[in-house]
Amino acid sequence: MSDIISKLFSISGKTAMVTGGANGIGLMIARGLVEAGVKTYIVGRNVTKGENAAAELAKLGQCTFIPGDLSSLAGIEAVVAELSAKESKLDILVNNAGLLTLQTLEEVDEAGWDGPVNINMKAPFFLIQKLLPLLRASGTYDDPARVINIGSAGGIENAPIEYYSYIASKAGLHHLTRGLAKYLAPDNINVVSIAPGVFPSDIGYEPPIEVHNAIIASIPRQRLGTEDDIVGAVIYLASRAGAFITASMLPVDGGKIYG
Ligand SMILES: NC(=O)c1ccc[n+]([C@@H]2O[C@H](COP(=O)([O-])OP(=O)(O)OC[C@H]3O[C@@H](n4cnc5c(N)ncnc54)[C@H](OP(=O)(O)O)[C@@H]3O)[C@@H](O)[C@H]2O)c1
Repeated sequence: MSDIISKLFSISGKTAMVTGGANGIGLMIARGLVEAGVKTYIVGRNVTKGENAAAELAKLGQCTFIPGDLSSLAGIEAVVAELSAKESKLDILVNNAGLLTLQTLEEVDEAGWDGPVNINMKAPFFLIQKLLPLLRASGTYDDPARVINIGSAGGIENAPIEYYSYIASKAGLHHLTRGLAKYLAPDNINVVSIAPGVFPSDIGYEPPIEVHNAIIASIPRQRLGTEDDIVGAVIYLASRAGAFITASMLPVDGGKIYG
């Protein structure tokens, strides 16, 4: 690696936690961090899936699974207690775990509302709150701790589907990012968000081929997002190159996908 690339983009030796890191976009991010030399903790409810993912990633570097349900405060506190027992500081927190319910306006019930709101918006807030001691222990004037919230293009634009609790919680997460960034800047903690466009994962639905083609056609870059796209964005925001970026939202979507 050339000196300038190493100076700007190396994150080797840091410690990270990626929620929902056992599959989908979270697994892509976790693999990228592990390959970049970051000691990485992944969190999720499914123990078998989480332990298998961590075992695979541990072949590439350091990765540990912490089981937990982040939709409740008790679940968040249990995860924070387990991380705090292992680490005295946290350099990178990626709030990635998320949930989407496709319900029409008439169909939305309390569970369909609370599910996405709890994991997409409440969990990132309370995780940041409870992890403040570890984040403050990491952040310095030159190298702040980084919180990277995974929002969504759906939180900033209107998609041609009805998923109200999702878009409200993701819009809330993007604005929460701005509010927390301002408050936490003096503590040397940067808070940013990424707004992914369409990535292949479990959260979406398997659309018929004509719908799939319509999705691709609506994306200016004419393709779905890939692991390199999301990992590149995370490494940028987590490295020296991204140290002066806080309160910002980075779309990773191949263009303004919903017009
Ligand atoms: N895929 C896309 O096109 C797309 C587009 C825009 C934004 N995003 C955002 O990107 C993030 C990842 O999405 P994805 O597509 O990779 O989703 P995914 O494949 O469904 O993965 C979601 C992850 O979140 C974890 N999770 C869900 N509820 C949880 C809970 N209560 N406690 C702990 N972990 C929980 C799941 O693990 P367990 O089931 O084991 O708990 C899983 O690992 C989400 O925030 C999503 O909104 C995705």
